[in-house]
Amino acid sequence: MVEKNRYRIAVIPGDGTGPEVVREGIKVLEAAGEKHGISYDFTEFDFGGEHYLKTGETLPDSAIDDLRKFRAIFLGAIGHPDVAPGILETGILLKLRFALDQYINLRPVKLYPGVDTPLKGKKPEDIDFIVIRENTGGVYTGNGGTTRKGTPYEVAVQVMVYDRQMVDRCLKYAFEMAVERKKEGKPGNLTLVHKTNVLTYVGDLWFRAFTEMAKNYPGIKTDYNHIDAATMWTVKNPEWYDVMVTSNMFGDIITDLGAMVQGGMGIAAGGNINPAGTSMFEPIGGSAPKYTGKNVINPLAAIEAGRMMLKHLGEDAAARSIESAVAVACTRLKSLSAGKMGYSTSGVGDMVSGHIING
Ligand code: IPM
Ligand code: MN
Repeated sequence: MVEKNRYRIAVIPGDGTGPEVVREGIKVLEAAGEKHGISYDFTEFDFGGEHYLKTGETLPDSAIDDLRKFRAIFLGAIGHPDVAPGILETGILLKLRFALDQYINLRPVKLYPGVDTPLKGKKPEDIDFIVIRENTGGVYTGNGGTTRKGTPYEVAVQVMVYDRQMVDRCLKYAFEMAVERKKEGKPGNLTLVHKTNVLTYVGDLWFRAFTEMAKNYPGIKTDYNHIDAATMWTVKNPEWYDVMVTSNMFGDIITDLGAMVQGGMGIAAGGNINPAGTSMFEPIGGSAPKYTGKNVINPLAAIEAGRMMLKHLGEDAAARSIESAVAVACTRLKSLSAGKMGYSTSGVGDMVSGHIING
């Protein structure tokens, strides 16, 4: 037997149902590892709402230095009902994205056979695209401020910041993704989504950078949509999209729409990617506190996050095994929603790992 590929993975189970779904994600990663000669060295970190309430600490800089040393991070969910909005989001999730320069947020939108989509008449062949969301710039940089606070003349400014290299590196990733997908037999089309009719500076920067880069990729068909139109077409004609690239906030919005189109938060996963550093993979549904500890939450999103992590690590065969097993699970589950699956959380994990080992 060939020597095992071994990966050091940091695990942040986080809050609410995070630990439950992470457990099933790891179960499935282990099964894929057993089948394909991969092993892992998992190290758990307890950051999240509970840790913050106990210690007042979100994510110390020393933890960033530790996390940087891992090949990847597997994240459950961050969010706690007793912590004011914004603290954990900026103190943990956004801090990690920024500090580790995870400048790509990769969010596949794929309808598995057997899954219900709210889009009438649309089939798995119609819904299979990937959104590349710029992940460290734009209005998320926190550039801005408030003056005259609390007065009737209060002014608040929050600036959409992009420089050319931030735009270029994101677009490059998107073009390469289109090339990759074309090799896999997918259309390999790339659509830039922005708002050039109003954002005449930032939109113009993205549009020019996109048009110039397109010249280096003559095999890739490109298109441009305004964000408002893109939300419309995602509902009406999702089959038009293959790879979509967009800035941070537009990507945030369109990927929630994408998650619903592919069957809901039960299956939606994302990767925060630094192509030259430590990337982080997560189910995008949040901590779902009301389902905590009930063994009813759908772990498929976390399992999908694990699949994306393996693909990112170059373990294509293992990632494909997970994909086939998830596809089978999707035809067995009565629904993807928590409590309505006809299976428990651990039952779904067992089913998927069983298919990997025996399938
Ligand atoms: C997401 C989330 C985050 C974002 C929040 C929690 C800061 O909505 O991952 O999409 O806006 O990026
Ligand atoms: Mn979001």
